[in-house]
Amino acid sequence: MRSTEQINLIKQTQSNPWQIENFLSTAEVENLKDYFFSKQSLLDQKSRKLGHLGLIGPEANHKGGADAIQFVLDRLQEQVGKFEVRNATFFLATQPHRIHNDDAKHLPRTFKAFTMPLWVESGNCENAKLIMFEQFYYGGPTKFLGGDSDELRNKDRGVRYDNKISYNLYNYDTVEGINDKGIDPDIKTKYLSHIPPNHIKGLSIHKMFDWKIGSVVGFDSLRLHCASNFKKAGISKKLGLAVFTTYKN
Ligand SMILES: [Fe+2]
Repeated sequence: MRSTEQINLIKQTQSNPWQIENFLSTAEVENLKDYFFSKQSLLDQKSRKLGHLGLIGPEANHKGGADAIQFVLDRLQEQVGKFEVRNATFFLATQPHRIHNDDAKHLPRTFKAFTMPLWVESGNCENAKLIMFEQFYYGGPTKFLGGDSDELRNKDRGVRYDNKISYNLYNYDTVEGINDKGIDPDIKTKYLSHIPPNHIKGLSIHKMFDWKIGSVVGFDSLRLHCASNFKKAGISKKLGLAVFTTYKN
């Protein structure tokens, strides 16, 4: 676990999540998308299946990725100041990510995470959402499966997020900000139908962002978040670029 001192340092740099539209031009989006699909076809079967093209960090799976997104990193640093990139990856999602935080097992001084929507297959991209909860978790990379039990651990949950490098949390006693506000039933039906009700018990929504092509959503990486059930909105796949950062003095 992180010490109280480490957690307080992380809290000093926290802010409300935000979205900037047209962060990337149409041509830049097209170039990044083409880059992904040209390189993705060269990956091994397992990586192709996961839809991850790792650019920077322990999961980087091809050369040249850092150069391809340097202009994006420079632009992000103009927004939030200097950072170190812990991990940067393209991800092609065929299933909506369930509730998680974006942490690393070595418990770094995490800073902002950035998601840049690049493409959707069929459907309207604005019907897909990136959902930010009010709660935070400081205990490592985690999927939030409140109320489930260990016996379900090996059952296929239809989620591929960091299966090998994240923990499962079944009890939210150590999650910060748990409350009894609840979540609007309409939002649950429309956007959260892929999340079992017990997983969102005690959680509340801070903000929902449209999966708008060319935009960037910035947020604190230890904030709980998930994707909406974009499949229900008629979107079969979505491609994004994610950058996870560590604070740099
Ligand atoms: Fe995430």
